[in-house]
Amino acid sequence: MAKVIEVEHLYKSYPMVVGEPYSVLKDINFSINEGEFVAIMGPSGSGKSTLMNTLGCLDTPTSGVYKIGGEVVSGMNDDELANIRSSKIGFVFQGFNLLMKRSLLDNVSIPLIYAGYGLEAQHERAKVMLEHVGLGNFIERFPNQISGGMQQRVAIARALVNHPKIILADEPTGNLDTKTSIEIMKLFQELNAEGKTIVLVTHEPDIAEYAKRLIYIIDGVVHYDGPVSEFKGKK
Ligand SMILES: Nc1ncnc2c1ncn2[C@@H]1O[C@H](COP(=O)(O)OP(=O)(O)OP(=O)(O)O)[C@@H](O)[C@H]1O
Ligand SMILES: [Mg+2]
Repeated sequence: MAKVIEVEHLYKSYPMVVGEPYSVLKDINFSINEGEFVAIMGPSGSGKSTLMNTLGCLDTPTSGVYKIGGEVVSGMNDDELANIRSSKIGFVFQGFNLLMKRSLLDNVSIPLIYAGYGLEAQHERAKVMLEHVGLGNFIERFPNQISGGMQQRVAIARALVNHPKIILADEPTGNLDTKTSIEIMKLFQELNAEGKTIVLVTHEPDIAEYAKRLIYIIDGVVHYDGPVSEFKGKK
């Protein structure tokens, strides 16, 4: 299986007003093959979002190497990173991050604007994606006219619309009730079955069980990396 994500000796630290820089990620090493479904867990403040933002090219590491599909991404400039984000990665956030004054169709079209599609082609592709996540009958609605679970589906459709190989999700069920969370996790499982590589942060062991592999981080260090089913740590 081809490696889609490779992280080698990744460090991230933030400069402090006084004293030594604050070290958040410390010598992280792992690779993720195409088609894997990985959950990242760990205590609050352990560095999960910092890691996800780095994987998503929203942030850059202080040192170490990050490769996507064999291509070295760490060290790229902002324009190059923007290109990688728009072609290779779909990002899903806890708070959905939808534009409330735009229709679902417009929301899902946004990545296509940056990719240079005309309006008609944007709407055509966005509609297909909304149908794919079960919202084909709601395309003209606004985000405040649908439920939280449906809003997260819209965000997932938006993440998928450029056909990225990688889907990254930082606590995608953090704002949802249990039943809706399960529906969203089933959707991620379907996308994984279609071949998407998925990396997802969660605080909930029950949610992590929808993944196959678990990476557990404490204080910026990987403490477990293996099958979800064999994790005996912090359950
Ligand atoms: N821009 C920043 N400047 C300084 N420190 C930061 C910055 N961003 C994050 N941190 C610190 O880095 C550490 C890790 O933060 P991060 O958001 O990655 O944790 P997390 O594991 O996602 O936590 P949570 O489970 O609460 O979401 C925290 O101590 C945080 O305060
Ligand atoms: Mg976080």
